[in-house]
Amino acid sequence: MIRLDKMLANLGYGSRKEVKLLIRKGHVMINGTVIKKDDFRLDPEKDRVEVDGALVVYKPIVYIMMNKPQGVISATEDKYQPTVVDLLEGYDHYKVFPVGRLDKDTEGLLLLTNDGRLARELLFPSRDAYKTYYARLDADLNEADVQHFASGVMIDTGYTCKPAILEIESPREAIVKITEGKFHQVKKMFQACGKHVTYLKRLEMKGLKLDPRLKPGAYRELTKEEEALLGIPELGQKK
Ligand code: URA
Repeated sequence: MIRLDKMLANLGYGSRKEVKLLIRKGHVMINGTVIKKDDFRLDPEKDRVEVDGALVVYKPIVYIMMNKPQGVISATEDKYQPTVVDLLEGYDHYKVFPVGRLDKDTEGLLLLTNDGRLARELLFPSRDAYKTYYARLDADLNEADVQHFASGVMIDTGYTCKPAILEIESPREAIVKITEGKFHQVKKMFQACGKHVTYLKRLEMKGLKLDPRLKPGAYRELTKEEEALLGIPELGQKK
């Protein structure tokens, strides 16, 4: 048995607060009866749940690590371009979506899930939850760039990024660690240093490392240890 609000939030129908509202406003039916109690308990395997008349397909939650290839967009569907969800086989009924986004030309670690709550927790910027990228540049890097990243780069939107770590690997290659996820952030930070990113790959996110055996476009479900890294057992226990 599972609480109705928890089930709907897990399936991505909104935050816990949003689904409570959805339920209280009478949008949800169970076995043909409108249920307005958010703490209503049901058996997801047996009870028929509808939101605004559409059947809710209950599936266990899945967490998938993908090495996103270039040329594919981080979206669930698109009329014209291939999406990361199009690459998944056998997960149609899970309704997974990417957690955050990588640019079309960026490669690397992307998490896909149908756990709306985890997605929100992961996207919330936090001071010590780094995302790590490997970047190639069109010009040589120097110590001033390292200092610039450490003190907070102001990007073209006028926003000053939180302090970031820049480790120079070779004159035109670097590892970058940031705690936020602003639009095109890594590219814009280098742009502010007068450099252009020619290749970008995400290697790590909140301690979760891209499996080096995954070729671009390949994916697999997270192991229990990887789920634990993201705090998934604790999330599952939250009321
Ligand atoms: N920063 C970027 O500029 N692009 C990405 O895809 C991710 C981070």
